[in-house]
Amino acid sequence: MKIDHSASPARTNIESHLKEKRLFQPPREFAQEARIKNFAQYQRMYRESIKSPGKFWAREANELVWRKRWRKVVEWKPPFAKWFIGGQLNLSENCLDRHLTTHRRNKAAILWEGEPGERRTLTYQQLHREVCRFANVLKRNKIGKGDRVIIYMPTIPEVAIAMLACARIGAVHSVVFGGFSADSIRDRIADSGAIALITADGSYRRGGIVPLKKNVDDALSGGTSVKRVIVFQRAHTEIHMEEGRDVWWHRELEYVGGDCPPTPVDSEHPLYILYTSGSTGKPKGILHTTGGYLVGIYSTTKYVFDLRDEDIYWCTADVGWVTGHSYVVYGPLANGATTLMYEGAPNWPEPDRFWRIIEENRVNILYTAPTAIRAFIRWGDQWVKKHDLSSLRLLGTVGEPINPEAWMWYHKTIGGGRCPVVDTWWQTETGAIMITPLPGAIPTKPGSATLPFFGVDAAIVDARGKEVGPNVGGKLIIRRPWPSMLRNIYGDKERYKKQYWSEYPGNYLTGDGARRDQDGYFWIVGRIDDVLNVAGHRLGTSEIESALVSHARVAEAAVVGRPDELKGQGVVAFVTLKAGVEASNDLKGELREHVGRHIGAIAKPDEVRFAEALPKTRSGKIMRRLLKEIASGAKVTGDTTTLEDFSVLAKLAQSDE
Ligand code: WTA
Repeated sequence: MKIDHSASPARTNIESHLKEKRLFQPPREFAQEARIKNFAQYQRMYRESIKSPGKFWAREANELVWRKRWRKVVEWKPPFAKWFIGGQLNLSENCLDRHLTTHRRNKAAILWEGEPGERRTLTYQQLHREVCRFANVLKRNKIGKGDRVIIYMPTIPEVAIAMLACARIGAVHSVVFGGFSADSIRDRIADSGAIALITADGSYRRGGIVPLKKNVDDALSGGTSVKRVIVFQRAHTEIHMEEGRDVWWHRELEYVGGDCPPTPVDSEHPLYILYTSGSTGKPKGILHTTGGYLVGIYSTTKYVFDLRDEDIYWCTADVGWVTGHSYVVYGPLANGATTLMYEGAPNWPEPDRFWRIIEENRVNILYTAPTAIRAFIRWGDQWVKKHDLSSLRLLGTVGEPINPEAWMWYHKTIGGGRCPVVDTWWQTETGAIMITPLPGAIPTKPGSATLPFFGVDAAIVDARGKEVGPNVGGKLIIRRPWPSMLRNIYGDKERYKKQYWSEYPGNYLTGDGARRDQDGYFWIVGRIDDVLNVAGHRLGTSEIESALVSHARVAEAAVVGRPDELKGQGVVAFVTLKAGVEASNDLKGELREHVGRHIGAIAKPDEVRFAEALPKTRSGKIMRRLLKEIASGAKVTGDTTTLEDFSVLAKLAQSDE
């Protein structure tokens, strides 16, 4: 790769994505101290990881605690991979017990701040004790190895305690984002067959209280497989406790001791299921297992954030998303880091909350989402300037493509121009970061996730699966298995095969479009399937459509994304009403609320447009491309010859007030 070392980051003109020429070298002082110190070292290690993955990953795995050593590093029978076959381990032992015999035992594992402002610190010893006690609570409530447990909690230390306690006894957790509705919880219980649920009375959000337990009660009404609900008292609100089903977390603790040896499980034992949106139907339960996942998040956290023992590390993601799993809880704790958790909104009580937290805790590493960065830009620099951010030494982003302007602002205004920015591309399915700069080694370009992490064989291909040349757009695929990859869609091998492995057999289809530039750098464009990315959250258009169609007055619905300055993508719903139903603004509001109730507030359409009919092909397929163009206010271009009824288009365009 040729890199122009003379490129100056000082230029202020903003260039388009395609013409982005700015290049930032890793700061010299940073590189000197970093694990991977220069580009040549990255290349050497990358080559080794591709040529001898067994050797490479065994070395990483050897830094962790195994109860029984593996026989073989990887077995690949496409599309099913197994990692560290024959090995036995426990994830919570690796995140906790392993640090208790070192200087880390009295180190802060979790620094937590609640939205109302209270603070808690848990050292590794304290966290270990809480996890052991809560694991005993799980056992006491007849939850054991292999059982599925739903976790529906705020971002408080107890959510990490609950996850680690499940892992400690070999139970499989499925965290449901606290912003999801009762219907979403019910679907996930039904799909996973969960027997228990862990929640809190409520959680704080923008000064209000999210009634978590009430949502759980609604989800469980009518009967589900859940036999036991354990409730943590967070908001001290009045809630209903169902006799024989619901128990209080703090009461249960009175019955248990602090001794709970970790249960060793097979490397391929399921660790968690996390539901995410796909292009069709209901959310898919992405299944991650133990050994490979641990090695993947351990090693990415170590190299990408170049963690040092004295760092305060803060990933702002909610634990309900994969980023919260891998980079708030498991990755940092596996590395013995101090991970900061914040419960609430970034603009509560004022838009400087994040900067206040950084100043007051002397945060060194900040990992957040482009959508948050765009909001900060809009709120204005005065909120940033009020605070001393000089403790920061590394910045990261994840969740969606970052526009170069936002990258530059993040680098300059937050990082003071001295912190490397790691734009990390990955997915729920990949478990760990896949394409990313290594901060001491890989020069960055604003807007590019740069180069593949160790062991990641990423390529961009055309429709026939042929790799395309520099600067040609195509589909992003991964050509070989990696340790933290998903193992299945829970309970549905056929869907797993079809969804990810059928288009280019033996290759993993990411669903993203991208191009590589002349230096081999990856530029991710975004989803090319029917998945939207709204404020960094994945939403399936078909999920929102089913929610709309479940409304008594709706005949048909089509949902598309349109570019949104703040959220990346906004949701636009085209709706046809049943005969005799009158269109009104009230009904628009009602439909938005209806989607909120079915999925969660994040899925509410930004705009509902009533239409007499939707543009369809003669075979009855909705022509989304046309709807996308209409939704974004563009002129309809391209081929419309397959359109069944041409007058539909004209009418849709007219309904544009
Ligand atoms: C998008 C989140 C560009 C992408 C970890 C992917 C990104 C989807 C980036 C996965 C990035 C994530 N640059 N796009 N750095 N990171 N994406 O499963 O479209 O919630 O397929 O996982 O987010 O979203 P998910």
